[in-house]
Amino acid sequence: MNPPLPDTIRPIRFADGVLYLLDQRRLPVETRENAYTELQAVATAIRDMVVRGAPAIGIAAGFGVVLACEAARKRGGHPWRAEVDTAMEQLAASRPTAVNLFWALDRMRRVLDSCASAEDACAASLATAQTMLEDDIAANRRMGELGAALITPGRAVLTHCNTGSLATGGFGTALGVIRSAWAGGRVTEVFADETRPWLQGARLTAWELVQDGIPVRLLCEGAAASLLRSGAVGWVIVGADRIAANGDTANKIGTYGLAVLAREHGVGFMVAAPVSTIDFDMDDGSEIPIETRPESEVLELAGQQVAAHGARAWNPAFDVTPARLIDAIVTEQGVVRRPDRQGLAALGKGPPG
Ligand code: MRU
Repeated sequence: MNPPLPDTIRPIRFADGVLYLLDQRRLPVETRENAYTELQAVATAIRDMVVRGAPAIGIAAGFGVVLACEAARKRGGHPWRAEVDTAMEQLAASRPTAVNLFWALDRMRRVLDSCASAEDACAASLATAQTMLEDDIAANRRMGELGAALITPGRAVLTHCNTGSLATGGFGTALGVIRSAWAGGRVTEVFADETRPWLQGARLTAWELVQDGIPVRLLCEGAAASLLRSGAVGWVIVGADRIAANGDTANKIGTYGLAVLAREHGVGFMVAAPVSTIDFDMDDGSEIPIETRPESEVLELAGQQVAAHGARAWNPAFDVTPARLIDAIVTEQGVVRRPDRQGLAALGKGPPG
């Protein structure tokens, strides 16, 4: 019998009309949930990185819509739908790159279209948001199996940013593959980039792996070239914020550099993402909007200025890896090797709304 899959962390839950988000800015120093009862506060939490990671952003936004429906129901006397639509615009403006946010909002809109009253909307939006959360975990488990099967046992893997339970409903995309591969005895250890400037690797990925008893060694991004040349790593495994129809993939800044290094050193490069991350309306990666975040995130560390006063910073949160550098895109609906337009189109357009 296979050992149980390491999977102990859940960052998003909804109970008695309240959304609880594990505050990812405080990890690993403090494990604290924040409570949300208003959509506006959820939009701010997404922008400020309380909750981050493409699927987790989408799910949190789904529950944000539930809160907006509840607010409209309580106020009564107003055209509830117009009120909820206006509130949803705040969620849409929170972060631009992760397509899962827009996918989740579209799905909620379609559900609201079939509701005759604010009461109906409260019940239907809550059921849909809960389904999105549960489906996401199931999709991650499936991706874990499919991705792990690609890994020949005996070597380490390298990952970037945080793509784990914290970045999703639970289990993770790329980190889900790594969890499954570890449970199946296919990886010797995990190397994780620290991932400047938010340190998602050092703070979040390392925390998750330590919680689940999976050995992890952190590295500065600049060490990745030497690591990949050493032969210790069989696969680089990353997630995605948006995949264009041709397979070009936006993910955390630094991913593109890793893909170039992996190809140079004959290391496999795997992207794990649910089908909802594929944006079939974007022809190629050049159309993907890339979020630029405040300069202070680079110039400061934990609120302390570390850069020379007077220096400016360039802080794109994501980059785009061309499809030709990707060996496999792993989704819950199948694996696309050497991804291209035809391969992705064959996956279909994802779960029904
Ligand atoms: O800025 P973040 O922390 O939201 O960026 C997250 C990433 O880039 C992840 O790799 C991506 O969302 C995939 S998460 C399953």
